Amino acid sequence: MIMRALIISLLSIGTIAAPAAVSAADEPIQPIEAAKPKNENMVELGKMLFFDPRLSKSGFISCNSCHNLSMGGTDNLQTSVGHNWQQGPINSPTVLNSSMNLAQFWDGRAKNLKEQAGGPIANPGEMAFTHELAVDVLRSIPQYRARFKQLFGSDQINIDMVTDAIAAFEETLVTPDSRFDKWLKGDKQALNQTEVEGYKLFKEVGCTSCHNGAAVGGASFQKFGVHEPYKTASKAEGRFGVTGKDADRFMFKVPTLRNVELTYPYFHDGAAATLEEAVNTMGRLQLGHKFTKEENAKIVAFLKTLTGKQPQFTLPVLPPSTNETPRPKPFG
Ligand code: HEC
Ligand code: HEC
Repeated sequence: MIMRALIISLLSIGTIAAPAAVSAADEPIQPIEAAKPKNENMVELGKMLFFDPRLSKSGFISCNSCHNLSMGGTDNLQTSVGHNWQQGPINSPTVLNSSMNLAQFWDGRAKNLKEQAGGPIANPGEMAFTHELAVDVLRSIPQYRARFKQLFGSDQINIDMVTDAIAAFEETLVTPDSRFDKWLKGDKQALNQTEVEGYKLFKEVGCTSCHNGAAVGGASFQKFGVHEPYKTASKAEGRFGVTGKDADRFMFKVPTLRNVELTYPYFHDGAAATLEEAVNTMGRLQLGHKFTKEENAKIVAFLKTLTGKQPQFTLPVLPPSTNETPRPKPFG
């Protein structure tokens, strides 16, 4: 199969003069479209909430603590650190392009971004607050009350409004214009020979059977360990934890490979420190394929072309707490 891929790619070098324009629509991966926010004010409020650590018990942890938008929407840690320096059980996935996921979390237990956004605030291992207390904090701050009133017609802030706004902001966190997308759209100079060969190999060996679509993942749950079992100390059991069905044991949401160069370490247990290691593990466990060093390097080179334009915005200036604002409890 790989031999064939090489021959085809060698042949195609000879036909450069007469390119049969491969349309992006024929490819298993599609370009990412820029976000078209429906309501700028809602996005702005969601951005403030995403960055506001006062939604946590400590007053120290915001969504951005574990989904750092300066670092590909992750914390680059094996597993996240939560309230009171607790060691989290699982790796933090990126929030970039998460609106394209069929469901949220590694096991898909939240059906969309709105449903997801309420989770971390009240999770004792993450922000360790309650929705009531988080809402109390917001209600105590007149600038927040005014913004909610303007958007929802009421300053009786509730968690539903909070998660609506956060989800609206997250929907803008897409990363178009990667070099790969430019190539897909017809700019053949956007990738070099090694990267193009890496993409061909990626398709040829079968990575695209699971990592496909605009997000290069996020569209299905698949077993981790198809050809041989994945060895891990992590207790996570994937979809099984949601459905209780034996067939769902170790089924995880296929992660997006967009910006994968930035979102190390890899896998739900964060056990693969490098992209090289993740690619070899995927080849062996998912496809029964052992890559040579050169093949691995080509795929890694291709994967690094998936880094898109990172979200650009002004850092929000958060309104100050008032005398009525519940005080943060950073310790205990
Ligand atoms: C203490 C670290 C931490 C904080 C704080 C945190 N998250 Fe997460 N987030 C995680 C981890 C870990 C997961 C994966 C959990 C799982 O799959 O079981 C996750 C999953 C997600 C996902 C799902 C992505 C996907 O591909 O499935 C989204 C979206 C998300 N978080 C958004 C948020 C928002 C919004 C906030 C703030 C309200 C937030 N997170 C706060 C660590 C954190
Ligand atoms: C049968 C489906 C399937 C195939 C085929 C497959 N993958 Fe995956 N991939 C997954 C799943 C599921 C995960 C998440 C595993 C986990 O951590 O639970 C994943 C995770 C990854 C990750 C880590 C991403 C992250 O953010 O943690 C990389 C990189 C990756 N795959 C690359 C590849 C490459 C390269 C190939 C081809 C050699 C490939 N995959 C083939 C299903 C697949």
